[in-house]
Amino acid sequence: MKVDVLLGLQWGDEGKGKVVDVLTPRYDAVARFQGGPNAGHTLEFDGKKYVLRSIPSGIFQHGQINIIGNGVVLDPVLFTEEAKSLEESGVDLRGILRISRKAHLILPTHRLLDAASEKAMAAGKIGTTGKGIGPTYTDKISRHGLRLGDALTPEFADRFAAARDRHLDTLRALGADVDADALAAAEQKWMQAIEYIKTFKIVDCEYLINDLLNDGKSILCEGAQGTMLDVDFGSYPFVTSSNTICAGACSGLGVAPNKVGDVYGIFKAYCTRVGSGPFPTELFDETGKRIRDLGHEYGAVTGRERRCGWIDLVALRYAVMINGVTRLIMMKSDVLDAFDTIKACVAYRDKDGNETRHLPFYLDDDNYSPVYVTLPGWKTTLSDIRSEDALPQAFVDYINFLEDELGTPITIISIGPDREQTIFRNR
Ligand code: GDP
Ligand code: IMO
Ligand code: MG
Repeated sequence: MKVDVLLGLQWGDEGKGKVVDVLTPRYDAVARFQGGPNAGHTLEFDGKKYVLRSIPSGIFQHGQINIIGNGVVLDPVLFTEEAKSLEESGVDLRGILRISRKAHLILPTHRLLDAASEKAMAAGKIGTTGKGIGPTYTDKISRHGLRLGDALTPEFADRFAAARDRHLDTLRALGADVDADALAAAEQKWMQAIEYIKTFKIVDCEYLINDLLNDGKSILCEGAQGTMLDVDFGSYPFVTSSNTICAGACSGLGVAPNKVGDVYGIFKAYCTRVGSGPFPTELFDETGKRIRDLGHEYGAVTGRERRCGWIDLVALRYAVMINGVTRLIMMKSDVLDAFDTIKACVAYRDKDGNETRHLPFYLDDDNYSPVYVTLPGWKTTLSDIRSEDALPQAFVDYINFLEDELGTPITIISIGPDREQTIFRNR
């Protein structure tokens, strides 16, 4: 058996949580492979809404195993809050959740470092989620990190103290004020949360995943963030600190590349981004505001306003290439229901008037302007449609146009936040 991978092709918040939940019944297990509580994955069904941050989106179906892989960074306190609230709503989390002992831990001082680093960068700040993601991955790569498995050893308290002291040195160098009492309280809470996590099944996720595959079980890997936030291929340095691309599933779970089957690439019918950084198709006018209002484009975790714009096919083509996408999933189609016309960026034009279909090294809005194609809107309410045959022709034309541009079939269309508002296409 192989793993299928579902990942975002834009700047995150494409709707990964919803679709993972919808696809979970087809799989025996679901696994998160990177990112941490910077993610906010929203699911809606039976009139209820859940936002998941560290826990995979396959927990609400029929007992599938859900795995937090080694590539994920875990904040014990946020994990505890999330897990307790899910247990309270009746999810048998202990029965289905497995956590890699190689997952790196986010310490309270990682969050302070995240904030101090952002403050020090002032106008050039990334606009991070403030969850300590960058500093935790920095420690991982510089070989200073603490992993969940370390918390099971007697030396853990000493290693934690050494890491904290090293972080405090850096914080001092950054000129950050550290409230010692607040930090001590946060650390106490953190240690209690570690004890809580220890009551879950902590596993060698690479063996678990490969054993499942050898036993003929199917696995869906759930990406966080999106390709344009990938640390290697995204809009660097305005990215997150992990590999959000398909290759991240291999390193973040211990799956060999030849074990990857389908790659589901998920995108919105338009485009959004949170935080700083270039966004060539961003709209600063009434249309951008209209998309934000109709799409409720506010961060699931931070509540921040999402920047909105037209779909960017230059970036999407690039994402399809980097990830080896085999099937596309288009989300939030209903948000554009009332628009007379819809624009799609098919190329960028540089200052000299030259057009390119390649993603440039610096994706700088000052240097590149989008070249748009304008398509007619469908002017139909999509959210109640349940079959492909009932889709309006102008909408089908939009899909066909995107498929041609991206060279990949669109196999699922989402027309509302609820599980039921999903159309599978026969492709
Ligand atoms: P994720 O991070 O990729 O899981 O996406 P988020 O949960 O951060 O953001 C997606 C938002 O869009 C959530 O509020 C979803 O409930 C909502 N959503 C998902 N699919 C659709 C859709 O097809 N139409 C509409 N209107 N909302 C959707
Ligand atoms: P999901 O999984 C959208 C953005 C932040 C910031 C940059 C770096 O819900 O799609 P970080 O805290 O990771 O160091 O911030 O990445 N970002 C996201 N944007 N959706 C996300 O996750 C994001 N996770 C991080 O806004 O610009
Ligand atoms: Mg999100």
